[in-house]
This record gives sequence, C-alpha cells and structure tokens, in this order.
Amino acid sequence: MMPAGVALGTIRGDTMRRARLDQIPWADFHKLPLQKKGPYFQQGDGRPYHVIIAQQFERDGLDQLCQLATRIRRIAKSKQGMEFLASLLSHKRAMLDFSQPSTRTFLSFYAACQILGLRVGEVRDPATSSEMKGESREDSVRTFSSYFDMIVMRTPQQGFAERMAWLLSNTERPIPIINAGSGKDQHPTQALLDIYTLQRSFEKVGGIEGKTVVFVGDLARGRTVRSLSYLLTKYANVTQYFVAPEPLQVGQDVLQQLDAARVNYHVSRDFEAVLPLADAIYMTRIQDEWDTEAAESKRIDISQYYFKAEHLKQIKMGTIIMHPLPRRQEIDVAVDHDPRAMYWRQMRNGMWIRTALIATIFGRDQEIASYYQINLK
Ligand code: NCD
Repeated sequence: MMPAGVALGTIRGDTMRRARLDQIPWADFHKLPLQKKGPYFQQGDGRPYHVIIAQQFERDGLDQLCQLATRIRRIAKSKQGMEFLASLLSHKRAMLDFSQPSTRTFLSFYAACQILGLRVGEVRDPATSSEMKGESREDSVRTFSSYFDMIVMRTPQQGFAERMAWLLSNTERPIPIINAGSGKDQHPTQALLDIYTLQRSFEKVGGIEGKTVVFVGDLARGRTVRSLSYLLTKYANVTQYFVAPEPLQVGQDVLQQLDAARVNYHVSRDFEAVLPLADAIYMTRIQDEWDTEAAESKRIDISQYYFKAEHLKQIKMGTIIMHPLPRRQEIDVAVDHDPRAMYWRQMRNGMWIRTALIATIFGRDQEIASYYQINLK
C-alpha cells in the first residue's frame, strides 16, 4: 500500500505535490478548515488512507464505496465468494481500540475484518492497558502501530483520531487510522453507512438527489448528524430539516457548512408538522453521556420528538425511518415491523460499507470488481 499522499499529480501542466501529513507541522495542520484537511487523509491515487472526517469524501468516492459494498454483499452469498474475500487481507492485522461504549460499530468493524480475513486485536477498556500505569493515549496508540496494520478507534476526545493520524504519519511505521466516533464532532463511517442506506432505499426513485431528510433529537451533540449532514451536501437539491427542542438544536458549525454549500435547510421545533414532508426521518437519542454534573438533558422534555406508531399514518408511503441506534424511546417498537422502518437494515449495511472501506484503503477494490465481473455479472 502506498503511504498517504505519495504520488505527484499534474494540474494544467504544473506538477503539484499532494498534501502529505508528514510534510506539515501539527500546529499548521490543526488550524486548517475541515475541507482543507481532507486531502491530507487520502492516498496519492485519491483513495482514503486515514478515515477521519466526512469532509474527506467526494461524490465519486461515495459512489464507488456504495457500489463496492453491494458487490461484496453479493459475493458473500456463496462459500466460494466468502473464501475469496477472506483471502484478500489474510496477511494483515487490525486493532480495534474502543475506549467508549459501542455495540454496532465495534461488531460491524469486527465482522468486516473477518470477512476480509484480517486478524483482529482489541482494547475495549483502557483499565486493562498500560494507560493505568500512566502511559499517554498517544504512546498507547503508537504501540498498537508496532503490532497491527490498521487501527479503528473510538474515543470521547474530540480531534484525537485526527491527532493520531498526523502523529502516526510522522513515524517510521505509518498505518491507517479509522475514526469510529470522536467526541461530539465526527462519526464518518456511520455517515457512510447512512448514505449507503439512503442510496439503496431511493435507488428506484431517482436516488438521494432532491430528497428531504429530517434529523430529529439531540442534534447539538449527535456526531452522526454532523457527519451525515455534510455528506448530504454532495447530492443535488437535498433539503435538510433539523427538528429538536431549543437546547438540543443543531450547532452553527453544521448550518455554516450548509450555507457554504448553498444547501436548502430549515430549523424547526414542530415534529408533527415536518413529518409529512420527509423522504427520510433520521431519529437520534439524547446523548446524555455529554451532560455536565447538572444533568441538564434530564430537564428537557423530548417526548414530543418520539416517533410513535400513530405517526406512520402521517408519513409518505416511500418515507424511510432511520436511527444510528441504540434507541431508547425515540422509536416505538410497534414501528419495527413497518416496511419503512429501515434501522435494522441500516445496521447491517454498516458491515458491508465498512468492509468496502477497508478493502479500498488496502487497495483490494479492483480485485473485488474483477471477481464480481467474472463470477456474478
Ligand atoms: C452512535 C454513536 O456512538 O455515536 N451510535 C452508533 O455508532 N451506531 C450514536 C449513539 O450512540 O447514539
């Protein structure tokens, strides 16, 4: 695999050196706007190397990942296909470093690694590692890079995955870092699986373009919303609604990025009024792990923002209901059996798109495409 940003690109005859993390001091890199950081996480041929922020993805890359995920899904239906997939990265090892709770993200990355034959190590509780002896998080992660070929990382610390990507790219053994959730700011692979779910759901009705996506719940602290709202700007004429009680309403940073992309959006408190307009409703839970000692979100009444069985009558026939999960009361279990409830399929899509992402990072996407052409086309 090519280290991040090795190739030289040519634009209008001028030779341009690609953005490289090992050629920019941390202080300069850190203060770049998100869009400008994106190219530093890519390989010379445009594939992702580190996966840190939604802003590193362009529309082409999203389409390619979705297509690859669908091909992998189909190849995986047979024993022969599974054996082919499991041979692709059987010489690699992945570290799953999850210092924040996780069920789906952890397990789907675990399963994705298994599908591609990667062997997996894990730390889920820093109490079992040398961090208890006073080792810094940075030193722990650098240690992982001695034993593994990729790190998938979830941390409560905003910007930590980005810092580690820079740090590892400046060591003699750079390995890819995938951000599986960093603080309140980003969850790029959740956004990828959400895009894949939307794309599959709207495949026969003109794709994601022109659709109305309604985000509901804790939009102030939901990292999945922040990442997905940005990726949706890559699809023409999408309207975004943000529906939440005032203290949980979406942040200015998200709205500014929509303004910059000239995206049509609305901020509302009226859940029931917005329901009939939606093509996709993206429910989220209260992220009370970020509460201060005052437990402020306990005092916010969010019961008006629950999707109840009676709301099924108020949405369009083709509207899909999504949720990154875990849920509490945001979606009534009575809704689960409605064909428009997409959250269980959304969760499984996570395994396929993460498999596609890892295969792409390690440059195995072409082999998968060829296998697909020969055996399944
Ligand atoms: C989300 C997370 O951890 O950010 N869940 C997930 O990854 N599927 C959302 C959440 O915990 O509410």
